[in-house]
Amino acid sequence: MTKSALQIARAAYQPKVPAALKGAVKAVEGAYTQSVADQDEVKKLFPNTYGMPVVTFEKTSSPKAMPAINAGVILSGGQAPGGHNVIAGIFDGLKSLNKDSRLFGFILGPGGLVDHNYMELTADIIDEYRNTGGFDMIGSGRTKLESKEQFDKGLEILKELDIKALVIIGGDDSNTNACVLAEYYKAIGAGVQVIGCPKTIDGDLKNEQIETSFGFDTACKVYSEVIGNIQRDCNSARKYWHFIKLMGRSASHIALECALQTQPNVCIVSEEVEAKNMSLDDVITQVAEVVAKRAANGDNFGTVLIPEGLVEFIPAMKRLIAELSDFLAHHEDEFKLIKRSEQRNYIISKLTKENSEIYASLPEGVARQLTLDRDPHGNVQVSLIETEKLLAEMVGTRLAEWKKEGKYVGKFAAQVHFFGYEGRCAAPSNYDADYCYSLGYTASCLIASGKTGYMSSVRNTTAPAEKWIAGGVPITMMMNMEKRHGEMKPVIQKALVKLDGAPFKTFAAKREGWALTTDYVYPGPIQYFGPTEVCDEPTKTLQLELAK
Ligand code: FBP
Repeated sequence: MTKSALQIARAAYQPKVPAALKGAVKAVEGAYTQSVADQDEVKKLFPNTYGMPVVTFEKTSSPKAMPAINAGVILSGGQAPGGHNVIAGIFDGLKSLNKDSRLFGFILGPGGLVDHNYMELTADIIDEYRNTGGFDMIGSGRTKLESKEQFDKGLEILKELDIKALVIIGGDDSNTNACVLAEYYKAIGAGVQVIGCPKTIDGDLKNEQIETSFGFDTACKVYSEVIGNIQRDCNSARKYWHFIKLMGRSASHIALECALQTQPNVCIVSEEVEAKNMSLDDVITQVAEVVAKRAANGDNFGTVLIPEGLVEFIPAMKRLIAELSDFLAHHEDEFKLIKRSEQRNYIISKLTKENSEIYASLPEGVARQLTLDRDPHGNVQVSLIETEKLLAEMVGTRLAEWKKEGKYVGKFAAQVHFFGYEGRCAAPSNYDADYCYSLGYTASCLIASGKTGYMSSVRNTTAPAEKWIAGGVPITMMMNMEKRHGEMKPVIQKALVKLDGAPFKTFAAKREGWALTTDYVYPGPIQYFGPTEVCDEPTKTLQLELAK
């Protein structure tokens, strides 16, 4: 591996950890727990792992000798900065308990467990990846671990390698499945513990016990750097409106955090759009009004942040997508026979009146994306819809109408961007490097204390790392029952942006000012070396959420 100068220097970085993790620990158990909702149903589905106590690790002066243990690790889902440090933390934690412990990585995600595709992670391999971004040490994948056949197939290789504990690093769905797996292995007496770790740049795996998912911090800092650069460019040339779509499959945490960091002229928050039952037309009008007001002040430039999941939160668009998916699933062959130039009119003629009108109002490119880009299950892949182009085009059209009516005087030229993959594998910020290493190390403590069905948790993370609190939360505690594919299932509640939460309220109180005055903030690149106030600052979201 050819390494950059930063990578070489950064390899020597020693992640900061909670004081308790600096020596031997004991597990201190709290009160017994309940699931967040639907207690009876969740309890029935998890008879062996429901209701367990929250655990906190504290220093002890009388450590117990631990036998060597073999453990396995899986990276699941989208990449997020810091994954390698979670693995390094697990490795160091296991070795500190007994130097003969071994760690195996399953290749390319949960599929590696089912397909028996693995590698042993030795000290040399771990050292190559300390403090690096990416998941390339063992790769990641989106195979869902949910059937008994998969669990049994996985158990074959776990037995063969004498693995007694498995750590699954993933988002809400992967951790839900980790819990189901933990329950199953406990129920059949398999002798394999299962521990989860909270990962996703989307920031939507968090609750009372889990402050944030790892990767959110770094990804938002990377996007905010480039948004800041764009804002400085647009404030220099003063001729473009930049429409910037940001990753985040459903929740708008990334867009909101980037707005708090960079103070753009507009930031759309999907959860607010849904709560206000806004139509696409309402969203367009809202953005166009800001453009027009700025133009009246002579400012024909600006920035608009758009969360990736927006279209699914516009109730009318959601209905259109649902009808389209259903229609195309049943008429695929017929649709394919229609001439490309006629497809739009064909769809318009087939939909119900409301959906047909919305579809007809969409720009050609987006209308085509809605009909062509479907996944193997026939669903429209909303992440492929170029919402940034959709909004830029429709705002342009609206302004042209207003110009004719004499309501708008100005020039409008748009540039579009999508930031997602740019941030998912960045070198982890100090926050993520420290948080991830601590999460991994804590996972090894959970293994040593014989826990299963727990998620590794590190709390109080806006304080200096010394004061962070390491522990474990029973995954069933985060669950409720939700309808998935027509069936009620126990799942970890996804954390969407709360409109009564401090991050959104702070943004809402400032946005009118940011819309009209040009008050951009230019955060600059993540700093890995330098004073703590520059290198260790957590996200604004976390600071606002944890502010006492
Ligand atoms: P996870 O929830 O698995 O962490 O993935 C998040 C994410 O980065 C989303 O922001 C994005 O919509 C999606 O993954 C893209 O996934 P893919 O790279 O598989 O297309």
